[in-house]
Amino acid sequence: MTTSTEPVTASVVESASRPELAAPIGAGVLHLRAAGVSVVLDASGSLLPRIAHWGADLGEVDEQTARRIAEVSVLGTATAFLDDPMLLGIVTEHSRGWTGFPGLIGHRSGRDWSTLFRVVAIQARENTVQCTAVDTEARLLLELVIELTPQGLLRSRAKLIVTPAESPDGDAPFELDGLTLTFPVPSHATELLDFAGRHLRERHPQRHPFDIGARVRETRKGRTGLDGTLLLAAGTPGFSFGSGEVWAIHVAWSGNQRALAERMNTGHAVLSGGELLLPGEITLGSGDCYTTPWIYGSYGLGLDAMASRFHAHLRARPHHPSTPRPVILNTWESVYFDQDLTRLTTLAQDAASIGVERYVLDDGWFLGRRDDTKGLGDWQVDTQVWPNGLHPLVDRVHELGMQFGLWVEPEMVNPDSHLARDHPEWVLSSGNRTPLPARRQQVVDLTQPGAYAHILDSLDALLNEYRIDYLKWDHNRDLLEAGRWPTGQAAVHNQTLATYAIMDELRRRHPGLEIESCASGGGRVDLGILEHTDRVWASDCIDALERQTIERYTGLLLAPELIGSHIGSAQAHTTGRRHDLSFRAGTAFFGHLGVEADVSKMTPAERANLAEWVAVHKSFRPLLHTGRVVRLDNVDPSLMVRGVISDDQNEAIFSIASIKTADTAPTGALHLTGLKADVRYAVSLLPPGDVVRGNGQVEPSWISTPTVLPGAALQYAGLPMPDLWPEQVLLLHLRRATQAL
Ligand code: DGJ
Repeated sequence: MTTSTEPVTASVVESASRPELAAPIGAGVLHLRAAGVSVVLDASGSLLPRIAHWGADLGEVDEQTARRIAEVSVLGTATAFLDDPMLLGIVTEHSRGWTGFPGLIGHRSGRDWSTLFRVVAIQARENTVQCTAVDTEARLLLELVIELTPQGLLRSRAKLIVTPAESPDGDAPFELDGLTLTFPVPSHATELLDFAGRHLRERHPQRHPFDIGARVRETRKGRTGLDGTLLLAAGTPGFSFGSGEVWAIHVAWSGNQRALAERMNTGHAVLSGGELLLPGEITLGSGDCYTTPWIYGSYGLGLDAMASRFHAHLRARPHHPSTPRPVILNTWESVYFDQDLTRLTTLAQDAASIGVERYVLDDGWFLGRRDDTKGLGDWQVDTQVWPNGLHPLVDRVHELGMQFGLWVEPEMVNPDSHLARDHPEWVLSSGNRTPLPARRQQVVDLTQPGAYAHILDSLDALLNEYRIDYLKWDHNRDLLEAGRWPTGQAAVHNQTLATYAIMDELRRRHPGLEIESCASGGGRVDLGILEHTDRVWASDCIDALERQTIERYTGLLLAPELIGSHIGSAQAHTTGRRHDLSFRAGTAFFGHLGVEADVSKMTPAERANLAEWVAVHKSFRPLLHTGRVVRLDNVDPSLMVRGVISDDQNEAIFSIASIKTADTAPTGALHLTGLKADVRYAVSLLPPGDVVRGNGQVEPSWISTPTVLPGAALQYAGLPMPDLWPEQVLLLHLRRATQAL
């Protein structure tokens, strides 16, 4: 899918020939090491490789010791179980004694549902292991990649290939219902953390005991989901941001998916992940194949260490945004559907005057789109609202020195649109009935060649006509009964790949184009979509108080520069809460900053204050968007503290957000982590700093007296806090002192 206007349907279930089986069988026990993580992979026999250890670095280990570590890791058996110990492959198999959630689910007319794969080739190059295994009786071939990235992330993906039968009558297709990869965790990981959410409140943490049975988190919504779990983590009791051992997995996929934590009465505990396939979704004929998404595993001492591996991995990608993240103005909460050239031009001018660098025209610019009932699918500029097209606005935005961004929702269609009327067969459905509407919209079946080409061409035409630097790519409903006309065969897998392919094709045709992943706010946040986009919209809730939590946990996967974070209006549109600018701006300060408020209605003084915040953000952007993120444990429950520390640990910014009233006034001292013990830091508050410091009569001396303290003192002796009113943010700046004070 590099250049074509074809959908991906054909390439999803790709044709594959039998690979060369050149490498020797049985690579032995491999010890992969990177960035403080060890993976001991037992690939010694003919069975599928088995992870014998995934966790802390084991240091230099010779071959014999590695073999011994692998042997010792095998659990014994007890009464009423197998005669021999069970060896748990990375794709679990019933044939090897596994009775938990199956690695491979599928069959050929009721046969071949249980496999026993034998490795026929295995290659290890640096920290990447590629393995080919076959089950000749089931006529299945499995290719596995198991990799420890330089950042210490364990990741794996599998490809299942159906091999031809000897005789044509044995050639029934293989119905694939799931292919899941499994990473074991030690038995002392007894606590689980995952995430839940809803519109306007994404990614809130949930804790559970990791006891016997399975905790299964599934998404059947055709998108990652507002309630999708970002990560599924197991850890030692009470694991926190800074302490405890943590193992977490992530499914890098934007369609249906499954992550589960399972503990068996045999003593095995695992984290597994894969795509969730709908009934009949993948049928593989001879030579066809199916590839899983990448399943990522991150280990760390504390959640912050676990998260920083994801951040480092994302930042090492060749396509990771390399330019300073332009400050955005998004028009949505200023005008909603009420688009008007004069008003939007004034908004652009005012935006430029406060330092905005990218102006994004949101929903409402295309044919018939006066509200959310009509127009989706008709991606032509509405000349009733824009008689001269978008040219006057786009040109003015560029003249003002800003980039221009445009909102689109390419996968969606309103029944009240030319597209739906002309092509009812391009709407995903079970074949018998139209799915229940959501936000008055349906989903375009991008697996249909005509629909794929139409959407690609419509977007391409816009990008050719206008200088558009950025697309805000929205996706505002869950997929229900998402089948392909006329049979209604489930199509979420192919639809997800088609979306990726359109994004890639547009980026190929329009180099430099950036895309934001938005789905009713934060409904499509995953590493799959981030291979094709540059930013996520974390939530439709811009209320800074809610954002403190949403961004804290979204940041366990994504580096701050990938998280769209906007300064909203004084009164939040989705909660009605009112916040001072310092709380709104201090909260949005860390991410990819934007403004989503009507700056034209602000007083000159308010605009000047906002401009100051934007300028301060810009001056610290290099630190904020490259540094290491920490979140402090053991702070007063009224506070939420996060920090970003430069790689050389010479500079840091911490935000201290008061989220409610405290039991004590003032709260206790903060113990700042992530600093170098013997470096002396000059401590100051960042301007503009117009924070209501509460009811304190006497403030801690460091606030008014220039103060230099060693990192060790800031961590262990601590820094006393001033009293803060609730819903205020203090930004603390620490810089290596050139001279002692
Ligand atoms: C949902 C998005 O999350 C909002 O920011 C906005 O773009 C609306 N859709 C527009 O319909």
